[in-house]
Amino acid sequence: MSHYNIAVISGDGVGPEVINEGKKALQALSAPTFTFTDFGWSSDYYRQTGRFIPEGGLDEVANYDAIFFGAVGDAEIQDHITLNNLILPIRRRFDQYACVRPGYLYDGVQSPLVGKSGGDIDLVVLRENTEGEYADVGGRLYQHTNQEVAVQTAVFTRHGTERIIRYAFEEARRRQKKNKVTSITKSNAQGYSMVFWDEVFQEVEKDYPDIETESLLIDAAAMDFVRRPEDFDVVVASNLFGDILTDISAVIIGSMGLAPSANLNPSRQSPSMFEPVHGSAFELIGKGLVNPLATILAAAMMIEFLGESDAGALIRQAVADNIRENKIRTPDIGGASSTTEVGDDIVRRIG
Ligand code: IPM
Ligand code: MN
Repeated sequence: MSHYNIAVISGDGVGPEVINEGKKALQALSAPTFTFTDFGWSSDYYRQTGRFIPEGGLDEVANYDAIFFGAVGDAEIQDHITLNNLILPIRRRFDQYACVRPGYLYDGVQSPLVGKSGGDIDLVVLRENTEGEYADVGGRLYQHTNQEVAVQTAVFTRHGTERIIRYAFEEARRRQKKNKVTSITKSNAQGYSMVFWDEVFQEVEKDYPDIETESLLIDAAAMDFVRRPEDFDVVVASNLFGDILTDISAVIIGSMGLAPSANLNPSRQSPSMFEPVHGSAFELIGKGLVNPLATILAAAMMIEFLGESDAGALIRQAVADNIRENKIRTPDIGGASSTTEVGDDIVRRIG
């Protein structure tokens, strides 16, 4: 029987609460089995030690089969410090270049969009996850003077751009849904990086004549995610545009609490990382209000990536059944149950 060693980084805020339910779902499977090792990296750890990740920490995590991640973000520490010292270094160090964010409207959830029912929205955003607008390049001059200057440079490499676009086409083939890839840019205003992206997209699409293509500007795409989400299949975007679009795709499927995310290193030379799209939501800490389903779906993505498609399907089925039955759900989707009660219901269904 397969066994996996999972590095668990619960992190901040509601991270530990949702990770707990994700672990429960995985442990409810009769196979495969798991060993979870907790890494206490978080804002609290930073307050105690001055670091988010201890010396050599990433080398240690490199030996695990996957990383199961909760959230990072703290009321007292500026976000650019928490994020640039914990989650972004993990994505970059392990070259998790393909951020996969499915947006699926489950039967039984009310979309804020009128007239949409289960399955009407079924898209996946492929977000470039290692460079682009998130490249850590820039600087500040003459700080705290009237002459202050801030420069933040986006970096688009051929290697980085081509591989995420190629992954999007491969994903469209794997999904066998609409066989379509939509590329998102802003090449009308950003004449270097985004025109370059368009050119790479046009080159790569030649290798996939079976896949329909479409190119949209980010502003129009944001509108179309609201106006005609049912037309999308695979959507590929740069780091920042993908970040923005995936908050829209999360809300149109009824709740941020239903949106999972995978940060994949498709070469499998380093571990991939699986997390909910929602963040630390510290206003919800300890109240049992947070929806664990995004994290449970991230757990399903994790084991599917590890090759356990049957076990992944079991978890997905449990989630779909829980939502369709509409009895035990958290307040974000109109229920009155707690985080733990939802997790228990998923465990019961898996078992
Ligand atoms: C996300 C988050 C992160 C991002 C933050 C926390 C750095 O918004 O995973 O979407 O922008 O990538
Ligand atoms: Mn985001």
